[in-house]
Amino acid sequence: NQLEASVDERLLQICKLLESEIDYYNWVGFYFRNGDKEELVLGPYVGEATDHTTIPFGKGICGQVAVSNQNFVVPDVSAQDNYIACSITVKAEIVIPIFVNGENIGQIDIDSNTPNPFTKDDERFLEFVCGKISSMLF
Ligand code: SME
Repeated sequence: NQLEASVDERLLQICKLLESEIDYYNWVGFYFRNGDKEELVLGPYVGEATDHTTIPFGKGICGQVAVSNQNFVVPDVSAQDNYIACSITVKAEIVIPIFVNGENIGQIDIDSNTPNPFTKDDERFLEFVCGKISSMLF
């Protein structure tokens, strides 16, 4: 419907803005819980196309955040056992959950081609962005 289309359009604009303004944000996208299923589905994103449009809870960095409800900062993806590789150029990843009414409904996922680029400032900034998105979805 029209309302959902406009939310997706706004989420895509957020992806574009983050990817273009921050040089070490190379893939920026959203995953959302698929209704009552224990899986994530890919939402709006910018960057290389990914085969991983559905991710079961617990799988990869994203699937772990769906279960832990915690930020996950990965300075070196090659050191992770439970990791889903989307592109060989990716060196690091950050995933921040999005809460609506205290419920983890999805997340922002950012890949970087730079090793160990993410700081506490990225976490705080992306938490702020996720908070804004939460009020937009509410
Ligand atoms: N690397 C993620 C999968 C999603 S891609 O980064 C777009 C993970 O391990 O969950």
